[in-house]
Amino acid sequence: MFEKIEAKTVGLRLVQSSDAEFIYNLRINDNLNKYLSSIFGGIENQRQWIEKYKEKEYSKEEFYFIIYRKDTHESIGTVRLYDFIKAKNSFCWGSWILNENKTRYAAVESALLVYELAFKKLEFEQSHFEVRKENIKVVDFHRKFGAKQVDDNEIEFFFTYSKNEYIDFSKKYKRFL
Ligand SMILES: CC(C)(COP(=O)(O)OP(=O)(O)OC[C@H]1O[C@@H](n2cnc3c(N)ncnc32)[C@H](O)[C@@H]1OP(=O)(O)O)[C@@H](O)C(=O)NCCC(=O)NCCS
Repeated sequence: MFEKIEAKTVGLRLVQSSDAEFIYNLRINDNLNKYLSSIFGGIENQRQWIEKYKEKEYSKEEFYFIIYRKDTHESIGTVRLYDFIKAKNSFCWGSWILNENKTRYAAVESALLVYELAFKKLEFEQSHFEVRKENIKVVDFHRKFGAKQVDDNEIEFFFTYSKNEYIDFSKKYKRFL
């Protein structure tokens, strides 16, 4: 359906089972996993998880991407679209991680690519996602994009972001794409 989608310095490509070791190393990196759920098992477990995920990709229930640098083609992170809610035409995104080899604006670019893909290609109308309250930088990041906080609990803030809000916001961000 789509091989890859690219912004100015980074791109997204679908995860393959050969990415298991890269993802495993990312998830066990203590500088990056403070606010993420922990993974079980080792590299082989990751590989099996990816193989199960590929079935969901085939039936368009979920998309899991490697974020890569365009200049070196090096893998620098991951991002995942999942929990597609048909009744609201809404998708959730997460598993968003970038390692120390990221480009300066890889975060902005990868978020824009998620929304470009979801709102313009997959035709979703809304996004929903949660962020741990303690993950202050990431909470701020989504607020700057104009995401709306719709709920919270002890641990997390819940956000929504609509296609119209994104279309409006992204007019000022064309330089990143
Ligand atoms: C989440 C994550 C991918 C975000 O990437 P990041 O590089 O930390 O993102 P930043 O907020 O620093 O943004 C990158 C740059 O874009 C800038 N930026 C962010 N939002 C911007 C906006 N709306 N407009 C313009 N610039 C913006 C930042 O200022 C920063 O530039 P700077 O280095 O010159 O200050 C990364 O922090 C990560 O891997 N975290 C660990 C895993 C995690 O917690 N994931 C989220 C779970 S919900």
